Amino acid sequence: MKFILLLLVSITLIASAVGSAPGDTQITIETQHTALVIRVSKDGDPTIIHLGKRLQNGADYALLPDNEKRGEDYTKIYNSAYTPAGGRNLLEPALQVSHADGNPSSDLKYVRHETQHVADDVVLTTVFLKDPQYPFEVKLFYKAYQNEDVIEQWSSIRHTEKKTVRLQKYASANLYIPAQNYYLTHFHGDWAREMNPEEIPLTSGLKVLDTKLGTRTDLFQPPSFLLSLNKPAEEETGEVIAGTLAWSGNYQIQFEVDPLRNLRLIAGINPYASEYMLAPEKEFVTPAFLFTYSTAGKGQASRNLHRWARKHRIPQGEGNRLTLLNNWEATYFDFNEEKLTTLFKDGKKLGVDLFLLDDGWFANKYPRNDDHTGLGDWQENKQKLPHGLGYLVKEAERAGIKFGIWLEPEMVSPKSELYEKHPDWVIKLPNRSEYYFRNQLVLDLSNPKVQEFVYGVVDGILTKNPTLGYIKWDCNAVIYNAFSATNPNPSHLFVEYVQGLYKVMEKLRAKYPTLPLMLCSGGGGRVDYGALKYFTEFWPSDNTDGLERIFIQWNYSYFFPAIATCNHITDWGKQSIKFRTDVAMMGKMGYDIVVSKLDEKELAFSQQALQTYSRVKDIIWKGDLFRLTSPYGNDLASLMYVSEKQDKALWFSYLVGNRYRDGSRAPIKLKGLNPEKKYKIQEVNVYPGTNSPINRTQTIYSGDYLMTVGFNPSVDSRRESVVLEITEN
Ligand code: DGJ
Repeated sequence: MKFILLLLVSITLIASAVGSAPGDTQITIETQHTALVIRVSKDGDPTIIHLGKRLQNGADYALLPDNEKRGEDYTKIYNSAYTPAGGRNLLEPALQVSHADGNPSSDLKYVRHETQHVADDVVLTTVFLKDPQYPFEVKLFYKAYQNEDVIEQWSSIRHTEKKTVRLQKYASANLYIPAQNYYLTHFHGDWAREMNPEEIPLTSGLKVLDTKLGTRTDLFQPPSFLLSLNKPAEEETGEVIAGTLAWSGNYQIQFEVDPLRNLRLIAGINPYASEYMLAPEKEFVTPAFLFTYSTAGKGQASRNLHRWARKHRIPQGEGNRLTLLNNWEATYFDFNEEKLTTLFKDGKKLGVDLFLLDDGWFANKYPRNDDHTGLGDWQENKQKLPHGLGYLVKEAERAGIKFGIWLEPEMVSPKSELYEKHPDWVIKLPNRSEYYFRNQLVLDLSNPKVQEFVYGVVDGILTKNPTLGYIKWDCNAVIYNAFSATNPNPSHLFVEYVQGLYKVMEKLRAKYPTLPLMLCSGGGGRVDYGALKYFTEFWPSDNTDGLERIFIQWNYSYFFPAIATCNHITDWGKQSIKFRTDVAMMGKMGYDIVVSKLDEKELAFSQQALQTYSRVKDIIWKGDLFRLTSPYGNDLASLMYVSEKQDKALWFSYLVGNRYRDGSRAPIKLKGLNPEKKYKIQEVNVYPGTNSPINRTQTIYSGDYLMTVGFNPSVDSRRESVVLEITEN
């Protein structure tokens, strides 16, 4: 039905301004509140003359000046919508190629553009560009999601030259942003300390975010950023762009404050070791760069991205998720059928939907009893699991919960039958020592045979076990010694690895459209909207210490919605189980603990928390997020989710400072409620044997009061975390 509707909509394709003369062509890409305006210069160059707030009167865009000229005419090239290299442009290019005849320059002139309604609220604008001297074309695509105020932008390159063209740089996006000042918040990290923000003013010249790790590419620096214009944006005020590249491989995002003090932004695949030989008549399509522009601070930017991701990107983004009990930290590699069957019962007693069997269940010649062996040999280990996965699926179902498994299909252990059989499937250099990351190597997914193998592993398991309910897909190594023994173009490896991965995922999703899939990479080493087209959720970090997690989740929340953020309660950290549970509840909740070690109160609390979660999860998963008090520089972190109808909200507050009895001394002003509505406030997740001071009264408050005066959640060193349910009265 959806397909037929789409078809009908696309048939009503609107072609606009096709073939207008250069100099008077203006292309307006608009969402509800944002506009990106491209003007074709008199010379036929596509230039960006506006990126920001949408003007009320469309005719006013004609008043926008061309890029400010100071003296010399050459300045106009700074604001190209796709800057070619080698000619008159002397700043960072978006495109750098060497033509079939060896000419290292290119020029891109506007040919035409067209606009298509691809869905109810989604408009795709395509701008066609061509080199006047060569049969070489570039298309720029801008998909404008009206309601969510998100623009998805990518490009494609094609030619009909006599021989291959060498693509040296082929960006997804080239934007131009004039402002007085620019403040960039980017993130850095490593294993178990993902997503640490740093805000810096951008100065003249280049600032580059990038990765060259091949896989697990976000380990040190994810491709997501916040860019404040004029002055640093706050949660609810200020002009800010939240941007991210939808690509799970090497990326490069460049911010260049140009000689006019305007900002040029170029984002795409990292050109590092990635020259692409483009054959005639083949099309190279770049990954998408996504951004949202907000005049109401970082909060609005996040809410835009969350809504977009739920509606347009993440599978079942507006659907359901399963709570689960994972055995990784409970058993590590040490388990057998008997132990697992007991854990199924524990999971059921706790009240989760699914049991997730982690690493260690496979390989026989080189059994996976630690992380040195077995990756690639995806057969059940006969000693640990003599009756196979099928038996476990049934036993779990008999215990009343679903069953899922961990896989790391892109990897191979040097000690594995797979490595012995197919050494040419492994990424390595013939004349260099092998370097291992977590004692393993990466399979060459640029090889179609490897793609088939990886697909076959997953499909085989799912075909044999059709009720298997969940897969955690891990990826624990980066690419060292990048070289493919089978790829005719070794410099295609980094790009074709990711394309190969996406091909596998595409095929899996076509056959298993609703299977819940967790995107994991030794924690949060791979969290991007390229992969999240296929995965229902992601694992932000192996660090599940309650306090640490507040910071980690806080920072992911700028870009990714709660429904996709897997938060597990584990034994990491010194905080109480209540604190860890309250923190995990901010997203998609799960457990990785030994349930039988919980004392009576801890178990009762956890069972009750899961029941509460099942009642309120839709507010968290599908509501709007408002960050109230940042854990940075405050004793308290506080945030809330508000339902779309503004009739329900969930409010989480945590003590993050450690001074004696510090906490919420003053009321905190709530956000996102309806000022006209009346609300009651009830504390949930109250620990057995304790009383909530908040639940003593049944006061009714107006939304106006709660947002103007606020409310004190009474967090202090005796009440380190407080979860309040706000309901319309
Ligand atoms: C790394 C993941 O982040 C962990 O959760 C766990 O699945 C291990 N790998 C298993 O090897």
